[in-house]
Amino acid sequence: MKALLTGGAGYIGSHTAVALLAEGFEVTIVDNLANSSRVAVNRIESLTGRNTVFHEVSLLDASAITAILCDEVPDVVIHFAGLKSVAESVDHPLDYYRTNVAGTLNLLDAMVASGVRSLVFSSSATVYGEPVRLPIDETSPITDAANPYGRTKLHIERMLQDLGAADPDWNIALLRYFNPVGAHESGEIGEDPNGIPNNLLPYVCQFAVGKQDRLVVFGNDYPTPDGTCLRDYVHVTDLASGHLAALRFLNDEKPGVACFNLGTGKASSVIEVIHAFERASGLALAYDIGPRRSGDVPASYTNPDKARLQLGWTAVKTLDDICQDAWRWQCRNPDGYVA
Ligand code: UFG
Repeated sequence: MKALLTGGAGYIGSHTAVALLAEGFEVTIVDNLANSSRVAVNRIESLTGRNTVFHEVSLLDASAITAILCDEVPDVVIHFAGLKSVAESVDHPLDYYRTNVAGTLNLLDAMVASGVRSLVFSSSATVYGEPVRLPIDETSPITDAANPYGRTKLHIERMLQDLGAADPDWNIALLRYFNPVGAHESGEIGEDPNGIPNNLLPYVCQFAVGKQDRLVVFGNDYPTPDGTCLRDYVHVTDLASGHLAALRFLNDEKPGVACFNLGTGKASSVIEVIHAFERASGLALAYDIGPRRSGDVPASYTNPDKARLQLGWTAVKTLDDICQDAWRWQCRNPDGYVA
């Protein structure tokens, strides 16, 4: 089986590439390296002892992506490529619509041209916006996302649902990730954010090694047990195995378009994450309590039943595993992937 991964050099893509290669898949990576590194591809290959085919190409280059698809004709495409900063999407919405929505459209045109009809899409729990009930399951209403980044995920999901409705040959899994965190247990691949990290765990890692001066908890007056926001932190290697489960499901069940939440079902507060990180690193982290961050919802965590029952997938890594692996990655790669 051959899988083509857009964004395969990025955070979740690289971990999924390792899992696919370990299972015997042939892997082609298409990545423009805008928010990722060629070094990650080298590490994927050295970790697995397998080669990949790598194309440094943007999905905005429609003719290049069509040529690659028509040449490679993979069995499945796993589509990770896209911009992912909420704050940046508010300031530069057109960049987000162009890269995420128009890039996906080019990819779908290329899939049509090459006859490839099997797709796994990296969606996000952000499509649920402010959840109307908890835990969030796949029947929870999708109303409107809170920011342009989230709306691009929503538009792409709808585009894929329309495509599946128009042509029954398509089989598509929409994977709605909760909070992806952690790193490969080898410490060789992990998250390498551009600039100051927006997300909690990468920020805590950089604070712990002295790359950030101050750790601020954004609000402790939420209606939660300790007053800080609750999230469902899911280890990136668990997410990678979720993609393999989705591929098997598409292949075996030919479901048309199906969506799955990928999370643990456990809710952890910001303070609990900081304490878990302190246990993993042996460091004491002095943090301040600051104001709420605009756009944060008090709580977001999944009901993981659908993925468990239909994909046979359950996240197995704990918050302690997550922090240990994130810390190992940070210590071994204090400056991320340095070419
Ligand atoms: N937080 C802090 N201090 C920090 C960084 C984060 O207290 O320095 C808090 C946030 O306020 C939030 C929690 O840590 O309560 C988690 O924040 P993240 O930024 O790590 O994660 P989010 O839940 O905000 O973001 C995730 C995904 C996004 C997605 C978003 C909305 O990472 O891609 O959910 O669903 F868009």
